[in-house]
Amino acid sequence: MIGLPLTALDSPQLLLDLDVIDANLKRMFGAGKERGVNVRTHFKSLKCGGLARYIHERGGATFLCAKLNEAEVLAGVGIRDILIANQIVSPIKMQRLAELAKRVKLTVCVDTEANIDQLSKAMSAAGVTLGVLIEVDVGMARCGVLPGEAAVGLAQRIARSPGLRFEGLQGYDGHLQLMADMGEKRTKCLQGMEQLIGTRRLIEKAGVAVNTVTGAGTGTWEFVAGFPGVTEIQPGSFVLMDCAYHAVRPEFGCSLSILAMVMSVSPKWYVLDAGSKAISKDFGMPMIKGHAGETVTRLSEEHTKVEGEGMLAKVGDLREVIPAHCCATMNLHRQCIAVRAGKVEAVWPIEASGRYD
Ligand SMILES: Cc1ncc(COP(=O)(O)O)c(C=O)c1O
Repeated sequence: MIGLPLTALDSPQLLLDLDVIDANLKRMFGAGKERGVNVRTHFKSLKCGGLARYIHERGGATFLCAKLNEAEVLAGVGIRDILIANQIVSPIKMQRLAELAKRVKLTVCVDTEANIDQLSKAMSAAGVTLGVLIEVDVGMARCGVLPGEAAVGLAQRIARSPGLRFEGLQGYDGHLQLMADMGEKRTKCLQGMEQLIGTRRLIEKAGVAVNTVTGAGTGTWEFVAGFPGVTEIQPGSFVLMDCAYHAVRPEFGCSLSILAMVMSVSPKWYVLDAGSKAISKDFGMPMIKGHAGETVTRLSEEHTKVEGEGMLAKVGDLREVIPAHCCATMNLHRQCIAVRAGKVEAVWPIEASGRYD
């Protein structure tokens, strides 16, 4: 496929526009440098080892992910600093975690004493050291301990646990990412960061050093990067983007699309040969790239219905569909086609798609 134009490809295909990815990386990594924070890229949005390597080559050496299998894919393509931004609690996973900690600088999140003791026992038995962040709930009401005293006891426990290295805190504000009102988003985000840094200061006062304070996503990066006491941001969607995120973060371009072919035409609509099995709809309807008057009105398993006035679509025409959720769409495909200036530059497997372990 290398060198072929898009018109020579079968449909549907998952496309990545490398020029748009380059611009997104430059913007985010440049902002990180300017503001003195590390940008750790979230791999749960990408799931593709070739793309992780591409980002690494352009200055993004550190990654986080949601799952152990994603961390294993990252290690397999040479990434050496990996955060699993979740609690790993399954006894069956302890051996895999220890094996991975032998190969890379590996860090996980915790929010209970029991999990700290479980990790310490498993890592010290394997003779490895695992980095640990305490997850702090900065308003999302998902995982994590509340800001304040609760984290101090956990930090002291981690610091004296064999096999563990206390790294610091993670406070992710997922509830704010797609909020459209920038003023409200900023206010709520900064409140969360104040609580997070307040927690950092309490831990330091208790005599435990804090190396890392990490948080934020594509929707809140600009409020968190540069906040005093925060050392790192952890966005992921900024690489690929989607039409839901693009509505609130237009500074990043949509590099991900699904190439689909018109397979049926009526006077007021046409139908594409890809549906919800190829284009995630959990965050809403996708958009048609470069055709503002064409609106997706229905997405069934293998059909996308597109309506509009005076459309000139013919059977066999190609369209690029921009999904509303990039992360879930990457999880639907086995490979992606990396394109530059309309021609195929690389074909990468999406190794972690369809895996949840
Ligand atoms: C822990 C964590 N950090 C960061 C992010 C940011 O991701 P994104 O930039 O895709 O919003 C997420 C998204 O779910 C997350 O769960």
